[in-house]
Amino acid sequence: MRVLGIETSCDETSVAVVEDGVTELTCVIASSKEFHEKTGGVVPEIAARKQVEFIVPVLDQVFSQVPKETIDAIAVTKGPGLIGSLIVGIESAKALSLALGKPIIAVNHLVAHFYANFLTYPAEDIIFPALALVVSGGHTDLVLVQHHGNLKHLGSTVDDAAGEAFDKTARILGIGDYLGGAKLSQKALECRKNTLAGKLPRPMLDQSNYDFSFSGLKTAVKRLVENQNKEENLSKNEMAIISPSVEEIALEFETAVVDVLVGKTIRASQDFGVKSILLGGGVAANTALRTRLEIETKRIGKKFFKPDSRLCGDNASAVASAGFFNQNFATLEELRPNPSMSIMD
Ligand code: KG4
Ligand code: ZN
Repeated sequence: MRVLGIETSCDETSVAVVEDGVTELTCVIASSKEFHEKTGGVVPEIAARKQVEFIVPVLDQVFSQVPKETIDAIAVTKGPGLIGSLIVGIESAKALSLALGKPIIAVNHLVAHFYANFLTYPAEDIIFPALALVVSGGHTDLVLVQHHGNLKHLGSTVDDAAGEAFDKTARILGIGDYLGGAKLSQKALECRKNTLAGKLPRPMLDQSNYDFSFSGLKTAVKRLVENQNKEENLSKNEMAIISPSVEEIALEFETAVVDVLVGKTIRASQDFGVKSILLGGGVAANTALRTRLEIETKRIGKKFFKPDSRLCGDNASAVASAGFFNQNFATLEELRPNPSMSIMD
């Protein structure tokens, strides 16, 4: 079955064609990121206008590679995301559905994130029950995947999402104003000696639930930086003794986030006896997180799956794959965007 995927939940306009949920025939992604860099954050109105501008050229490019007549179904992101951006993908899917006479499958963007693993590994290697950790800019969710379409919610962030905490901390550290997560991680790599090791909190790590909290960690970094600014009039030597460098703070922040994400994921995987652990979402591109999960899952004898770096961010291939494995067909009349959709909707 050949599924056309459409993803327009935020600032990426992506269209892909995937065969049987596992073989990517093509995937085109256009992004309005450069426009949001100027404002230091996504302006929903601009993101939506760019979706309108990009969607037809992206579709044209895809159809120049895979004839539209060969498509069997159209999978489109229903939510969560920005309403104006979501509408562009959904209405395009409806128009295509009418023109091609093919059905539409509604896809949850958060679920799609962990289906990127089905495009990275042979699907038969991913054994259920599985545990999915979805870490993106707006969400942090831990879900038990009994089978395709059979999810049980275990936990979420009670405040900031992991990616959001990375981005806000990058801003506090003056590393990047927009999507600074990857830049912060790069800074952490440059740290040679960490005098801050273990000094930042590991929020909720010792609690027996599977929820997360990252806003306190970001605030702790803010306080550290504010205190440093007060000590500005000290000499360079005095500063070096009492003030950790940006690289040290970045490394300690990243380690604290990874400690909590990995600690809770490993515990949940043991508590529920899962066979596979599936990582997904933009923060899944983080090397420290990928490496630590790899090591810790090996230690407890479970299989770990992480998407190809190219498929961690928002992309339509993962939407097409999720659509193939979860064929939630929607009528044109009832299909509406759901900006605040949770991973369980
Ligand atoms: O899934 P995604 O592409 O968009 C949403 O659905 O939100 O996730 C984007 C998030 C941003 O917060 C971005 O800074 C973060 O993923 N991110 C990273 C890294 N690469 C992207 N965070 C930490 N380390 C990275 N290497
Ligand atoms: Zn996403």
